[in-house]
Amino acid sequence: MLILSYESSCDETSCAVVEMSDESRIIRSNIIASQISIHALYGGVVPEIASRAHCEAISRITDQALAEADISLDETDAVAVTYTPGLVGALLVGVNFAKALAYSAGKPLIGVDHIKGHVAASYFGTPAPEPPFLAFVASGGHTSLIDVKSYTDYETIGRTRDDAIGEAFDKVARVIGLGYPGGAEMDRLASVGDQKAMKFPSPAIPDDSLDFSFSGLKTAVINHVNTLNMKGQSCNNADIAASFTLAVTNSVIKKLSAAVERTGRIKLVAAGGVSANSHLRAALKAFAKKKKISLYLPELSLCGDNAAMIGAQAYYEYKTGNISDICLNAVVN
Ligand code: KG4
Ligand code: ZN
Repeated sequence: MLILSYESSCDETSCAVVEMSDESRIIRSNIIASQISIHALYGGVVPEIASRAHCEAISRITDQALAEADISLDETDAVAVTYTPGLVGALLVGVNFAKALAYSAGKPLIGVDHIKGHVAASYFGTPAPEPPFLAFVASGGHTSLIDVKSYTDYETIGRTRDDAIGEAFDKVARVIGLGYPGGAEMDRLASVGDQKAMKFPSPAIPDDSLDFSFSGLKTAVINHVNTLNMKGQSCNNADIAASFTLAVTNSVIKKLSAAVERTGRIKLVAAGGVSANSHLRAALKAFAKKKKISLYLPELSLCGDNAAMIGAQAYYEYKTGNISDICLNAVVN
């Protein structure tokens, strides 16, 4: 099945063609028009600018995705699009474009949940995970722990109570003078820092909960930097990045460990932009080995927002009979 898919929930406009069957999953094209350089000027995503940039890019990247896949719109079997969660104006651009295209070309329309899309990025790996499994989705807007019972039946068993994990990375990065979004740069800096240089607090979430919290940790780092600045002392950014990353990683592993115990699942998928973090990936690998569970990580190019992952999830939504109609709307949360 050839699926033309769209992603426009935040600051990347993406269009892909994926060729999906039960036996194989092939990315024929996956075009990403990033808006990062525009939003970097403001230190974060400006929703109105994001919507406009999606409008400007979506038609062009559709042509590119079809050309790279070497097919025409007629040859596709369905059109898929992220409809939730995300910035409403940004989502609406993708949803309305995909709706119009599907309607005019007489193709089925499939609305896809962005979080499920992130998890589906792992289906392009070899071996690919087969449900049931536990999924940890860590991105700039979301941090969720999910019991994936089938390809389409998801139960969220833990989530952040405040900042998303990527948001915490980006805010700490900003305070130590890195550009936006600073997650990837924090990753590089942490590699040359001493992770034991500072001891930052672990979140005060009760042991019987699978929820996360990153806001207290983020504030502790910001206070530490401000105190040093007030004293006229210089901060060692690499040590801060390394110590912060260790605190984040430890708190994630603690909750994943509890989730594995509670659900008895023997497979774990980690996905989303932050799952590209090399230190988190290393900690997850060590954790999986210790717990004797199988770990599935999407390849780095598929961790961030992209339309191929939306196409992958769309295949399973289609097989389950979850076909949308012309009334499909954007849903913020
Ligand atoms: O999944 P994504 O592309 O967009 C959302 O759905 O939010 O994730 C973007 C987030 C940003 O916060 C970015 O700083 C973070 O992922 N990120 C990283 C790394 N690469 C991207 N955070 C930590 N380490 C990385 N290597
Ligand atoms: Zn995302």
